[in-house]
Amino acid sequence: MLPLSPAFTLLAVSLFFGTANAWFRLACTLPLVRERIDPIVSPGVAPANHVHSVHGGSNFAPSSTYDSLRQSSCSSCLITQDKSNYWFPTLYFQDPKTKQFEVVPNGGLLVYYQNRGTLDKINGGPGLKAFPAGFRMISGNVKSRSQKYPPNQGTQAELAERAVKYICLRYSAGKADYEGYGFPTTDCEAGFQARIHMPACWDGKNVDSADHTSHVAYLSIIDNGSCPPTHPVGLMKLFYEITWDVTTFASRWKAGTDKWPFVYADGDPTGFSAHGDFQNGWDINVLQNAIDQCNNPNDQTGNGITEACKYFVMQSAADATKCRINPHVSESTNGTLARLPGCNPIQAGPSDATLYSDSNCPAH
Ligand SMILES: *[C@@H]1O[C@H](CO)[C@@H](O)[C@H](O)[C@H]1NC(C)=O
Ligand SMILES: *[C@@H]1O[C@H](CO)[C@@H](O)[C@H](O)[C@H]1NC(C)=O
Repeated sequence: MLPLSPAFTLLAVSLFFGTANAWFRLACTLPLVRERIDPIVSPGVAPANHVHSVHGGSNFAPSSTYDSLRQSSCSSCLITQDKSNYWFPTLYFQDPKTKQFEVVPNGGLLVYYQNRGTLDKINGGPGLKAFPAGFRMISGNVKSRSQKYPPNQGTQAELAERAVKYICLRYSAGKADYEGYGFPTTDCEAGFQARIHMPACWDGKNVDSADHTSHVAYLSIIDNGSCPPTHPVGLMKLFYEITWDVTTFASRWKAGTDKWPFVYADGDPTGFSAHGDFQNGWDINVLQNAIDQCNNPNDQTGNGITEACKYFVMQSAADATKCRINPHVSESTNGTLARLPGCNPIQAGPSDATLYSDSNCPAH
């Protein structure tokens, strides 16, 4: 239980903030690995641009495929028939005095598998499809450093911006909780989360696309609504809830005096570059059976109780925590670092950031 406790402590609070009607939750323990690998954006490349925290199947690799993920010997998440990988940029603390960087641990990851939108049976639709073999996708934009679109405009670009949100929880009255886009500025002594909605509409043909996003689309109001006619197949909507353990660093900065000291591994101090990646490694029959049979309002599966779905073989958090791999890239990503790994100078925007390669790196 230990590695999951921060995420689970926040669960009650999450429900309060409106993450209701989750259909099942996939709990993932501590990261499988943290390293500069990205099999979707930079297949075959080691090192890739920035450090990710990676959860799921143990065959995560620069060139991992559906077949290789299915051969994973373990997963760091609790449903054993899921060998998918889930990853996002690692958060670092930048010490305001020394300017050096240290990894902020995440107390696991909760991936909500949600049945949403007009294509779901519960809303009168034909039903949702399991992710096909080879399917992968990204939500979010690594270059983004500010809000670009008028809120609720409803275009796919604006929905992508609206898909990433932060929660900053505080204890006492007079210290306002924060829920919004972009990083907060205060300490978050009762919890800090990044929340990423993935697209839930598929074009029905392509398991990937050049930008890794255009084969999928967001529901018209992200969390519900309809799919655009170009993307007529409904998928389960994945929702990543990442709990960052920022309180470990609370004594080392002063809100109001120091700027918010946490930055993503891609050099982002604003929070707008957050992105979630998904590469399918499911036993597809198991996932399809679960979608079709385990959303029964007459039993506990209707309440999002993962263990109640008879198609799932669960493992304990203790066993999942044992699933770790050695990094493919030999470099320090943890400890105290003078620079973010790779070429990721801090770029605060508001205009889009420039992505640099290791071999063409400006002094910083
Ligand atoms: C989604 O919208 C439908 C139609 O308005 C509604 O009946 C349903 O309760 C909504 N679902 C959620 C999870 O809010
Ligand atoms: C720190 O990074 C090194 C090098 O990548 C790795 O071998 C080690 O396991 C990491 N330690 C932790 C606690 O993640």
